[in-house]
Amino acid sequence: MGEGNRRLGKAARHAYTRSMNKPALDTRPERREPTSKARPETRFEACPQGLQSGRVGAVARFAVAPMMDWTDRHCRYFHRLISARAELWTEMVTTGALIYGDVERHLRFDESEHPVVCQLGGSVPSALATSARLVRDWGYDGVNLNCGCPSDRVQSGRFGACLMAEPALVADCIKAMQDAVDIPVSVKCRIGIDDQDSEQALADFVGQIAETGCHTFTVHARKAWLQGLSPKENRDVPPLNYERVRRLRQANPELSIALNGGLVDLATCLSVLDWCDGVMLGRAAYQTPWLLSDVDADIYQDKGAQVGDRWQVAARMADYADRQRARGVPVKSITRHMMGLFNGLAGAKAWRRYLSTQAHLEGATGDVILRAADLVARTGED
Ligand SMILES: Cc1cc2nc3c(=O)[nH]c(=O)nc-3n(C[C@H](O)[C@H](O)[C@H](O)COP(=O)(O)O)c2cc1C
Repeated sequence: MGEGNRRLGKAARHAYTRSMNKPALDTRPERREPTSKARPETRFEACPQGLQSGRVGAVARFAVAPMMDWTDRHCRYFHRLISARAELWTEMVTTGALIYGDVERHLRFDESEHPVVCQLGGSVPSALATSARLVRDWGYDGVNLNCGCPSDRVQSGRFGACLMAEPALVADCIKAMQDAVDIPVSVKCRIGIDDQDSEQALADFVGQIAETGCHTFTVHARKAWLQGLSPKENRDVPPLNYERVRRLRQANPELSIALNGGLVDLATCLSVLDWCDGVMLGRAAYQTPWLLSDVDADIYQDKGAQVGDRWQVAARMADYADRQRARGVPVKSITRHMMGLFNGLAGAKAWRRYLSTQAHLEGATGDVILRAADLVARTGED
């Protein structure tokens, strides 16, 4: 009987035992938090998608988008328990935060998170080169430059989506990053900004960057309005235009392009993968994380993929929460990413309610997660 099973309540134990007929959740070796800088010579071993396609630096077939305040290391650890293959991305971290701030706080991650890409925000080539070196030294599998974030704060720092108006500067930034590191360097951008949203403008932007040798782009298939719309509105209001990304892909067969924006299910992802090299999901992956459980089998055709059930994931997260708690991380910092785990099942509401009322209490432990999972199992038996 596994540790998680021992700690589960009666009903959840029942669900857990049932699930033991399925393959074990995770047979990968025990993970450790990096305590020192990772060994650069091993970093390509952890980059299966690049090697697999024979194009180091190619986009992953499936990635979970960078999301500020959402895709922190606890969230990525959780997602990794559900899919062994999805590429995970950090939140955007600015060059200033890395050069003048607490590097460990921003770059620390768990070995299990591989393949994992770090996204940078910045527009000063030398600062991006320094930051990319830090990212490389910490063992990330790739480094990405954010050219898609429309927030005011980011614009005042002259980076994010406003960089789409300055392709020559972006090319300089990318070149500096490429000269600094030998991990793949990529760009995440929109299809346009403000009135600079023609097909030609996108082709010019991508073309100038491609001349540096960077062939890897993730394109959020909507433009951003830099004035007048909030970042949240900028993720919904400008219409999606997948066709523009499709034509960009067709016109540039040497590029590796992932489509992002509005994808919510794997069937649509698979149809997009007929013409695009990769897909990236943001909100849907965060809000309905169990969709990641089919990624290994459906997107990577990994028929031996070993995914347990949601109770097993909950049990693993309870153990993780206790380990993190011993290092001073409050349980609520972990459970906040798990609210959607049982979405679609009877009991999902009870799960969310229990986590939201109990996880922030003084002295909360991983048992909160087990008890919430038990509630779901009992609801399922009613
Ligand atoms: C809460 C939140 C934070 C985000 N933060 C970032 C970020 O740090 N960097 C970035 O490139 N995009 C960021 N995005 C945009 C997503 O990466 C993605 O491009 C966008 O949500 C569209 O994809 P989706 O429709 O699958 O959610 C963020 C999105 C959300 C919802």
